[in-house]
Amino acid sequence: MAKIKTAIVGTGFMGKVHTENVRRLGNVEVAAVVGSRPERAKQFAEAMGIPKAAASLKEVLDDKEIAAVHICTPNVDHYPMSKAAIEAGKAVLCEKPLTLSAAEARELVELAKAKNAINCVQHNLRYYPVVQQIRQMIAHGDLGDILIAQGTYSQDWLLYDTDWNWRVDTEENGKLRAMGDIGSHWMDMIQHLTALPITAVCADLATFHKTRKRPKGSVETFSGKKLQPGDYEEFPITTDDFGAVLIHLGDRAKGAFTVSQMSAGCKNRFSFDIFGTKAGVSWSQEQPDTLWIGHRNDPNQIIIKDGSLLYPAAAKFADLPGGHSEGYDDSHKQVFKNFYARVADPKVPIDYPTFEDGLRGMVLLEKVAESAAREGWVKV
Ligand SMILES: NC(=O)c1ccc[n+]([C@@H]2O[C@H](COP(=O)([O-])OP(=O)(O)OC[C@H]3O[C@@H](n4cnc5c(N)ncnc54)[C@H](O)[C@@H]3O)[C@@H](O)[C@H]2O)c1
Repeated sequence: MAKIKTAIVGTGFMGKVHTENVRRLGNVEVAAVVGSRPERAKQFAEAMGIPKAAASLKEVLDDKEIAAVHICTPNVDHYPMSKAAIEAGKAVLCEKPLTLSAAEARELVELAKAKNAINCVQHNLRYYPVVQQIRQMIAHGDLGDILIAQGTYSQDWLLYDTDWNWRVDTEENGKLRAMGDIGSHWMDMIQHLTALPITAVCADLATFHKTRKRPKGSVETFSGKKLQPGDYEEFPITTDDFGAVLIHLGDRAKGAFTVSQMSAGCKNRFSFDIFGTKAGVSWSQEQPDTLWIGHRNDPNQIIIKDGSLLYPAAAKFADLPGGHSEGYDDSHKQVFKNFYARVADPKVPIDYPTFEDGLRGMVLLEKVAESAAREGWVKV
């Protein structure tokens, strides 16, 4: 059977992760790549064995054989690139956060609907098998009514004022940085798991480094540590290094989370605890196969991922046998699997995050910004 041809836009961290993981599906061919400059696309195509280094996004969009595009560029490009791809009749899988504003996200949702375009926003972190088990436990009432959700998404890669990435610049990133980059994942996750919407937020944001030293060359994600001290220029920073948010979840539940890109030692600490009237659960991305279940009157449990012991709806996200870890790469593959099932057959039900989820995320980010500016609660 002919493979579905796809294109990757962006040759950095996500460009590579998407290329590697979409290839694991077997029925999708990465046929082309677009870079910020033709030389970059060429280098990436050679390194990754991709047949075509396109000179521009337009070249890919004009190619009738290409059915889908992955947008793995800085946030500022998500809206114009997604829009152009939908208009060209492609299925679009865009990295998060979907856009720079809720207005842009709303426009994409409406355009996708009008053009009947298959669309996905890459909230891959939902798809660790143990996380899906938590979703099923909540849906089956194992936790009772949800009362409390708390957690963090903390990293340390922007701790020093010499740490630089396009994300610190509002023009490429948007106004909210730690909150937009990783807080977007935390908020998406908690709503996905509990099936409850965040209904109000009270946020406090901090920019610890008022200026950062911008290197004169370009820097890709997580590569800052390799830079030698040398030629920098002082760059004023207004995006958040840290944020703390109180939340209301649905009618009854309450919670709080922090985000940080300046917490020494936290490499990718995405964690949450959810407590209900019957039981609690706890999960951390740094041990993604482990699930803690807390009980009031029985001993607490620690469960290790084993597909044969999960709810069937969670087990379908576990492709390896028990005890064989499934991690970050696998979470991307799970989204791609369901997205391309629908590209292959548009009658397949949607089982991946869509632009609607991306819009919801952008609305929440704007409410967080408004709350921080007003120093008070904001209803969503
Ligand atoms: N889902 C996740 O787990 C996850 C993780 C990291 C990043 N992201 C998201 O992925 C996106 C990319 O982040 P990254 O960490 O890969 O950044 P990165 O800096 O490593 O890569 C971005 C790439 O885009 C290229 N680029 C810039 N402008 C371009 C243009 N006009 N056309 C083509 N290519 C262009 C850059 O040269 C670079 O190679 C961001 O929106 C980010 O929020 C998601």
